Amino acid sequence: MRVVFLRIGYELLLGCIEQKTGPDFMTFTIEFQPNGIRLECANSINGLDAARQAGIELISVCGGEGTCGKCVVQLLSDADEHPPSDADKKHITINKIEQGFRLACQLTINKNAKIYIPDGSIIEGQILQTDGEDIFQNVCPSVKKTTLKLSQANLQDLISDFSRIKNELNNKDLSTDLNTLRKLPPLLRENDWHIDIWTRGNEVFHATPHQKTRSIGLAVDVGSTKIACYLMDLANGRTLTAKGTPNPQIAFGEDIMARLGYAMQGTSQAEELFHLTIHAINQTALEMCQRIGLTPEDIDDICIVGNTAMHHFFLNLPTGSLAVSPFVPVTTDPLYPSAKELGINSKPGAGVYAPPVIAGFIGSDHLAFLYAAGFGEDSRVRLGIDIGTNTEIALQVKGRIVSVSTASGPAFEGAHIKYGMRAANGAIEHVHISENGEISLQVIGDQAPIGICGSGILDAVAQMRVREILNHRGRIDKSASNVKLDKQGKPEFTLAYGEKPITLSQTDVDQILLAKGAIRAGIDILMDHLGIDLSNIEEIVIAGAFGSYMLPEHAMGIGMLPSIPLEHIKTIGNAAGTGARMMVASTNSRRQTEDLTKRIEYLELTTYKDFDMFYARGIKA
Ligand code: FES
Repeated sequence: MRVVFLRIGYELLLGCIEQKTGPDFMTFTIEFQPNGIRLECANSINGLDAARQAGIELISVCGGEGTCGKCVVQLLSDADEHPPSDADKKHITINKIEQGFRLACQLTINKNAKIYIPDGSIIEGQILQTDGEDIFQNVCPSVKKTTLKLSQANLQDLISDFSRIKNELNNKDLSTDLNTLRKLPPLLRENDWHIDIWTRGNEVFHATPHQKTRSIGLAVDVGSTKIACYLMDLANGRTLTAKGTPNPQIAFGEDIMARLGYAMQGTSQAEELFHLTIHAINQTALEMCQRIGLTPEDIDDICIVGNTAMHHFFLNLPTGSLAVSPFVPVTTDPLYPSAKELGINSKPGAGVYAPPVIAGFIGSDHLAFLYAAGFGEDSRVRLGIDIGTNTEIALQVKGRIVSVSTASGPAFEGAHIKYGMRAANGAIEHVHISENGEISLQVIGDQAPIGICGSGILDAVAQMRVREILNHRGRIDKSASNVKLDKQGKPEFTLAYGEKPITLSQTDVDQILLAKGAIRAGIDILMDHLGIDLSNIEEIVIAGAFGSYMLPEHAMGIGMLPSIPLEHIKTIGNAAGTGARMMVASTNSRRQTEDLTKRIEYLELTTYKDFDMFYARGIKA
């Protein structure tokens, strides 16, 4: 089990410790199983907060409102002292409640307790996509390492140390900072005037004794669900290693609006999200460096992309204006903070490139995706879709590129679906229903299913539609085989029997249809806006983890994607990560991406004429 110590609640934790110095404090201990982490506290504490403080990232889609039912834990001690809340009764079976299962967010703990965290309640072990195309052309990083062997100063050659470097490089415009100047004299004299310097444009930002090291770049795609990091060799643009990690902000809600709401509670809450993000980047970069024998000090340059909320969080920009209408960002310009300013561990003087964002709900990840997918480079009619909690869609027609963002929700990530889960071991990822009703399942990790992830949900709904278990209005046929009625008399379709039956209920199907309806409405509105129809679409490019695992024919089957020949659909993995890698390896890519930004028109869906009609049409099964 992976355990990460988070900054979350650090102040609160300090508060606990400080209170122990008073004369009458009474502390109690919460022990979390199976990892054995103990948390000592002086004051009563909410179960979700306690887990956070112990560094355990519980899934909390609703941000602790008691509505998602995902933060289930089991009280191993004194369960009878915690009567189940209405939310517990709604999400947990009576049998389980009797065994001590409760929603962590509904618990108040004020004495010694032992709590078991089931695997399915923690954010880990997910398939976190870091792949994507590796593009090696056009390598010209913004930082350059140069080895110098200088002639030493003597009575006949009295020029200053830094002027000696300027002369050697034949660049009179070269400048540097005080830190580098302070280190320079001993560095030159102790190393026989043989040193390495790092420059960014005309600025020398670092100097060391000469050694054979590579110039390394760090590319980061901060997604709402996961953070994908890549270490790059800046000499050739190759990816040396990659690693994905769950975005720890999820502990504050999977929904971006829940996190924005948390940040609006105050400066310390907003800074908590900033520090969490930076901590996760630092930790992941450190693990990648160790994997290939480097240290974070070897990182010379960094590029970070993300949706606009993530962009504001990792730059520690105020997010209040993103949370309320009309949802405008603080800035859409490219930014160049120092790594030190953001707290990212790297070479002293290293910089960070944060590419432009497009609008409140269209960030630099969308831009990076379109750049990596070659939008703007040809005249084909192309649709680009990055499916997530917010799905960004771009349509390119006759030199115009128009982008929209649609709130597709987290249903394809397994949230709000009774047996929904992320793509981890035990998740049903593909479903086939034969003509005679036989169900075949593909389960990640080849084990008994414990839930169903986005691609499995999509398959199940598409196959139910094909076999007419689902009608065109999206209703489950109560008389179909494998369909039974729940306690409220609503039909549910059983996908897997066994110790843990996995079902898809009418409510689940409704959630999927709403999600796919939002995506389809976005596509149809873009086509309407640019005056084209299906027959004009020459290519659909799909990015993102869910997009890579789903079967496009099933996405077309339920009407999420327009029906076009399968060979015209291309999936490209984490294209935002690919775009970030291109930008860390090349200043030309940065310039081209900024040029592309100027060509992207943002279209606000909710104010589009007949939006309701497009949406209603989109959700039909
Ligand atoms: S039900 Fe507890 S976080 Fe959602």
